[in-house]
Amino acid sequence: MELKALRPELLAAVEERLLALSSPEPDEPPPLTEAVRRALFNGGKRVRPLLALLAARAFGGRTEGCVDLACAVEMVHASSLILDDLPCMDDSPLRRGKPALHMAFGEDVALLAAYALLGGAFRAAARGAARLPQERYPAEAYVDELAGAIGTAGLVGGQYLDLHPPTAVDFAALEYIHSHKTGALFIAAARLGAMAAQARPAELETVTGFAKNLGLAFQIQDDLLDARSTPEALGKPVGQDRGKTTFLTLSGETACRSAVDALLGAALAHLRPVGDPSLLEAFVEYVRTRTA
Ligand code: IPE
Ligand code: IPE
Ligand code: MG
Ligand code: MG
Ligand code: MG
Repeated sequence: MELKALRPELLAAVEERLLALSSPEPDEPPPLTEAVRRALFNGGKRVRPLLALLAARAFGGRTEGCVDLACAVEMVHASSLILDDLPCMDDSPLRRGKPALHMAFGEDVALLAAYALLGGAFRAAARGAARLPQERYPAEAYVDELAGAIGTAGLVGGQYLDLHPPTAVDFAALEYIHSHKTGALFIAAARLGAMAAQARPAELETVTGFAKNLGLAFQIQDDLLDARSTPEALGKPVGQDRGKTTFLTLSGETACRSAVDALLGAALAHLRPVGDPSLLEAFVEYVRTRTA
C-alpha cells in the first residue's frame, strides 16, 4: 500500500488512541484536561508517530501493536514544545497558529500540563510494550528507549546547549544540538517501531542511522523555514532563531539546502538492508518537500 493511502488510516489510529490516553480521570481538574488536550490536538503534523508506525511496517510488524508507543513519542514531543515556548526558553507566543499553551493557560498550568504529558507518555509506552512479545525486547527496553531519548544525553541535553551554546558555535556543535534536541526523538520513534516489529538488534542499528540523518535534516529545515517562511504557513513566529548561529548563518542558504538533501540521501542509503523500505522512502520524500 502507498503512503498516501495508508497515512489517513494510521493517523486516525493515533488520534483515537491519543484521545483515549488523554481522557480525564474521575478526579482530574478540568482545566488540566483542557490544557493537555489543547497541547495534543492543535494541529501537529504527527511526524514522529507516523515514523514509528512506518518503521514497524518496514519490518513486517502490525501497526496495532505499536500505536501506544507511537502516541507515547507524540506526547513527549507535545510536552517538549510546551516547554520550548516558555518565556525562559524560546519565549514564543504562538504555536500551531494559536496562542502557545502558557499564553492561553498561564505558565504554571503549562508546566503542569507538560509534566502530565510526560507521565502519560510513560504510561502509554509501558502499556503498549507489555502487550508485545517479550522475548527479544522486554517491556523495560521500550521504556528505557523513550527515557534515554528525553534525558540529559537526549532531547533535554540538546535543548540545554541550544539555550547555552558554546562561545564559538561550529558545525560540530550545531550537529550535536540538532541531533539531540530533535534527532533523539526521531531515533526513538523509529527504533520503538522497529522493536515492536521484533527487528533484530543489527536492524535497529540500520534504523538508528536512518532516523539520525532524517532528524538532523528535519531540524535544519526547521531553521530554514524560520528564516524563509511566514507565521501563517508555519503557525509559529518566524525569525525566532535570529541572533543564533544556525546551519543557515554558518553556511548560507544554498549549502544548507544541499546539506538537507545530502542527509536525506544518507537516510535513504541506510534503508538498503530493510526488507520493505518503500513506505519509509515515501516518508523521506514527504519530509524533503515539506513547507511547514
Ligand atoms: C517542531 O516539530 C519542533 C522541531 C523539533 C523542529 P514539528 O515540526 O514536528 O512540530 P508539529 O508537531 O508539527 O507542530
Ligand atoms: C525545538 O526546536 C526542539 C524541541 C522542542 C525539542 P525549535 O525551538 O527550533 O522548535 P520550534 O521552531 O519552536 O518549533
Ligand atoms: Mg527551541
Ligand atoms: Mg522554539
Ligand atoms: Mg525552530
